[in-house]
Amino acid sequence: MRLSALFLACSLIWCDVVSASWQLLSRPDLQVPRLNITHPAQAGLTAPGYFFIAPFAGGSDQEKHGPLQPGPYIFDDQGQLVWSGFAQYFSIWTVNLQTTTYHGEPALLAFQGKHNAAHGHGHGHLKLLDAKYDVIREIRAGHHRLIDKHEGQVINDGKSALFQIYQPVPRDLSAYGGDEDHQWIVDGIFQEVDLDTGDVVFEWHSLEHVPPSHSNISLTSGQAGNGLGSSEAWDYFHINSVDKNDEGDYLLSARDVNSVYKIDGKTGRVLWRLGGRNQHNDFRHLDNEVAFSFQHHARYQGYDSQGRELISLYDNSAHGTETDTGSQLHDAPTSSGKILALDHKAKTVATVRAFYPPFKLLSKSQGSTHVLPGGNVVVNWGSEGAVTEFTSDGTVVFHAFLESGPLGVGVQNYRAFKNEWIGRPSEEAAVAGLVYGAEHRSYKVLLAASWNGDTEVSHWRFLGKDVEGNRIDLGGKVARVGFETRLTWVRAQGYNAKDELLTTTRWEPVDHERPVPPAFRRTKELSRMEEQQENDRLDGVASQTGSWIVFQKQG
Ligand SMILES: *[C@@H]1O[C@H](CO)[C@@H](O)[C@H](O)[C@H]1NC(C)=O
Ligand SMILES: *[C@@H]1O[C@H](CO)[C@@H](O)[C@H](O)[C@H]1NC(C)=O
Repeated sequence: MRLSALFLACSLIWCDVVSASWQLLSRPDLQVPRLNITHPAQAGLTAPGYFFIAPFAGGSDQEKHGPLQPGPYIFDDQGQLVWSGFAQYFSIWTVNLQTTTYHGEPALLAFQGKHNAAHGHGHGHLKLLDAKYDVIREIRAGHHRLIDKHEGQVINDGKSALFQIYQPVPRDLSAYGGDEDHQWIVDGIFQEVDLDTGDVVFEWHSLEHVPPSHSNISLTSGQAGNGLGSSEAWDYFHINSVDKNDEGDYLLSARDVNSVYKIDGKTGRVLWRLGGRNQHNDFRHLDNEVAFSFQHHARYQGYDSQGRELISLYDNSAHGTETDTGSQLHDAPTSSGKILALDHKAKTVATVRAFYPPFKLLSKSQGSTHVLPGGNVVVNWGSEGAVTEFTSDGTVVFHAFLESGPLGVGVQNYRAFKNEWIGRPSEEAAVAGLVYGAEHRSYKVLLAASWNGDTEVSHWRFLGKDVEGNRIDLGGKVARVGFETRLTWVRAQGYNAKDELLTTTRWEPVDHERPVPPAFRRTKELSRMEEQQENDRLDGVASQTGSWIVFQKQG
């Protein structure tokens, strides 16, 4: 027996007036950041791909700040969730979510570990997931060292990993204002590790190459550790990014010396120093925009037609802690993304393009500048919890704050990337069929389906069963809408005993208003066991939330 048209029309009711806690009907476990998109994505001008972010609650009282579920997320540029990696995939503090390649296959990489917001350090490891979001492996440092949160890259087509380490070491610091109590300094280290053998391929130490006297954050200022103990070691250098080019040389950024260095990949020697605001600098600045300080995320960008070496970076031009303890330093009205050109013959540096925020954002910590293959640039404003996409000429084509409303205050995000990605989750899809309105005797039904991390489903089919267990197609193809698709229209078809189609109604919008007549308010209650038998009878098609709604997904 087919479900009667009357039953369909009266019960399949969709309503968008849902309370705030009902963010996703099919995933009540998820409290997803709601992006505040102030500059909607401009079709044709934004690059293809998704945003990879990991927003967390900044400030000292993290309970009062969003997001409620800090963690790694993938969003599209309409602000729709694609994947939440909260708790199920990354269970502790996570940053630096990015796409990469491992053994020739697309993969996801992020840092997971403990976060010390006062010192801006993290301790943990790097975790690789495949396109099903299953863990492939964890990456650890060699030589008994602890990986820090700031840099993590899988390079050489997945053959090795590049990351950094803050290693406290005791030293005589009397030359920098220390006494016998102030003897700890941070050695800024980076390692390249072979992912097949675990061997350390290369290790570099800041204390062997850059003296503490070059620092822009003095020991006595107390803004980067006071030297009193190993956990309070003076972070004179604060390494925060490492990159490697095809010639095998490294590019590193050190925040507390306002400088970027090129490191010989064989000897570790400093090949050149680019001081943004530091006198120990090998390049004459050709324009005022070059000056940068407390920067992040320096990356090689190849060479231009004049043979100049190009690099990108995020210029904070401000310094402060993530918890807002201590005083702040400001060197410019806003932070910016920058592409700089180095002329090694003339020993000069010039600005190719600087990318300024659509709001007056000056980030005291964190930040990234991702130059996309097509030339667009994604700048992530670190402690200000916002992301902007620019065209190569600096035009804003998308801007979002990473949480809306009161929770938006204090959201921070270390780096953001935009990449193309195909997700085929091993996690099962979810469906919900909710009946509500009983208190007003107007029973209504909401149907919703989602599949965390999927990028391939184009439409859903909602199926149901009548009281006799007959399977029914409730709405035909329902085009996917963002993360969660809800059924909004119904129609019914009349068949004869030979299953020949006799009639088809027109499409009716599901009805928000009409109460269900008393006779239809309840169908037979099924026991737990009857429910199980019903599910088994449906050829294994999954049923998540009770006995009447199952689903099929179609690519
Ligand atoms: C950093 O050092 C340079 C000179 O080496 C100086 O001009 C600049 O003001 C310093 N900035 C801070 C914040 O100390
Ligand atoms: C979105 O951001 C703008 C600019 O900061 C702000 O004025 C507005 O209140 C925000 N909206 C929400 C919903 O948070």
